[in-house]
Amino acid sequence: MPNLRYRRLGYVALNVTDRARSIAFQRETMGLELVPGSEESAGVSLLTSGTSSCDLAFYDGDAPAMRRIAFEMEDEGFLELAHAHLQQLGIPVWTVPDAERAAFGQQAAFRFREPSCGLTVELYSPAAAASLPAFRRTFTNIARLGHAVVSVTDLSSFVRFFLDELNFRVSDYIGECAFLRCFPNVYHHSFAVVPGSENRLQHVNFMVDHLDDIGRSIYRLKHQEVPVVYGPGRHPPSGSVFLYFTDPDGFTFEFSSGMEEFPEVDPRAARHLPFVPESFDYWGSEPAAAFGAVGKFAALDGAEDPAGSLH
Ligand SMILES: [Fe+2]
Repeated sequence: MPNLRYRRLGYVALNVTDRARSIAFQRETMGLELVPGSEESAGVSLLTSGTSSCDLAFYDGDAPAMRRIAFEMEDEGFLELAHAHLQQLGIPVWTVPDAERAAFGQQAAFRFREPSCGLTVELYSPAAAASLPAFRRTFTNIARLGHAVVSVTDLSSFVRFFLDELNFRVSDYIGECAFLRCFPNVYHHSFAVVPGSENRLQHVNFMVDHLDDIGRSIYRLKHQEVPVVYGPGRHPPSGSVFLYFTDPDGFTFEFSSGMEEFPEVDPRAARHLPFVPESFDYWGSEPAAAFGAVGKFAALDGAEDPAGSLH
């Protein structure tokens, strides 16, 4: 396995059924802002919390779906290493259209499908000249896009692929559920996977600065009649205080505060917690049926070219 190094979870792309409605929810409830220009240049709506050039990407779809997950490599050398390794494994990779790379602020990028469950993954290096918009906190006080969690039918193959082929590390297990770091990113998990009856998104997380930001969200969501589907509570593995809610398509989003950080050298070993409700929440809340219920992995849209090269 090549010694791949990542900077962070880049963004999550979703197919949404009513783009204007989904964007309004992100602006009014999540506190994200629309990145100007991307709809005209690339046909995709990019949304940012102000801490990155893009945290979410919305495309039109007949049904809500998880379109892809993107990770930012430390530099183009690691991207080339990953590209060569996947080709060696016989995994088809394809290019990212120039207009999208420009809109996303990427120097180079490619996409492929995770072989066991078909999730589209994008790896990219940021454009050297990419300049972030001026840092601007909004009312939700988001610190960063934190993590995404997916549920899959073949969990062991999926986890093995990320650990053995992409140099992710595991921070903890709850039963089979695996909490993964994109090495050497310090956060307890930027990606996690749980067992499920179908391959789909479970939730997308944004980390906020303070516990008070979670508290304010509780009342704001209530006022806006947004369904809270799990929490507030505290996750034992990462120590995060959490609050989960759904958007108009039914996608589950999370705000959380606080998370264990790992050193690059000599991190603690992964723990194995039992698969019981107390391993997911110290405080005793229980997920509603709508928690993590929407967001099957999208099929390829035909515009993507599995024969593509690294660009
Ligand atoms: Fe989470």
